[in-house]
Amino acid sequence: MEHPPPASAGKVFGDRLDLAARYVEHLATSGVERGLIGPREADRLWDRHVLNCAVVADLVPDSAKVVDVGSGAGLPGIPLALARPDLRIVLVEPLARRVEWLVEIVEDLGLSLTVERGRAEENVIRRRWEGADVVTARAVAPLARLAAWSLPLLRTGGRLLAVKGASAPEEIDRDAAEVRRLGGGTPWIEHCGAGIVDPPSTVVAVEREGRPAGRSRKKRST
Ligand SMILES: C[S@@+](CC[C@H](N)C(=O)[O-])C[C@H]1O[C@@H](n2cnc3c(N)ncnc32)[C@H](O)[C@@H]1O
Repeated sequence: MEHPPPASAGKVFGDRLDLAARYVEHLATSGVERGLIGPREADRLWDRHVLNCAVVADLVPDSAKVVDVGSGAGLPGIPLALARPDLRIVLVEPLARRVEWLVEIVEDLGLSLTVERGRAEENVIRRRWEGADVVTARAVAPLARLAAWSLPLLRTGGRLLAVKGASAPEEIDRDAAEVRRLGGGTPWIEHCGAGIVDPPSTVVAVEREGRPAGRSRKKRST
């Protein structure tokens, strides 16, 4: 095996570890060749990508309906599906060649998740996938834009889980007011995967509270 799993991967994927290893080989070969993953990432696929995403499963309720926005090479949606077969997951991705690759990989791995071509903010995507328990996203957009795309996809009480880096606190300071205006609660930070990934993954969570604040109507001049 070109990219053997670290010992911690067994704790995350259990009897689906072989399947996770197969996904890593796809990322390292056709994923790199077809431009879905940078060539320099090939040696750090397990820690930086697959495990870093899979540990977000700790924040996802049982049997949740999950929309992964801007899935790219399937991150975090595919590691989540591998770690948590109870979840109902859709990968939303606008770029045709990425969607093509995702469909091939999902089929090869025999995963029961859906791949949907489109942008998260499009009406057709909203109509089809609204009412989700969780929206996930990694490296897709700044927090406020992500909230604008994701909150309409969530049921009230559902959560956006945005995998972010060290800039998470500054993003929250900058965007919290806008997130609240859009119908989200105050964003907070969760760390997951201690003892599995170093450093643990940083996730910004936002709960959908209600409808966005309405814009004030212009008064008609008489
Ligand atoms: C930098 S990549 C990150 C991919 C993956 N989430 C990861 O962590 O490796 C951003 C992805 O978001 C997708 N994207 C950009 N705008 C989007 C939108 N409005 N709705 C859904 N996906 C979008 C892009 O096509 C791209 O695949």
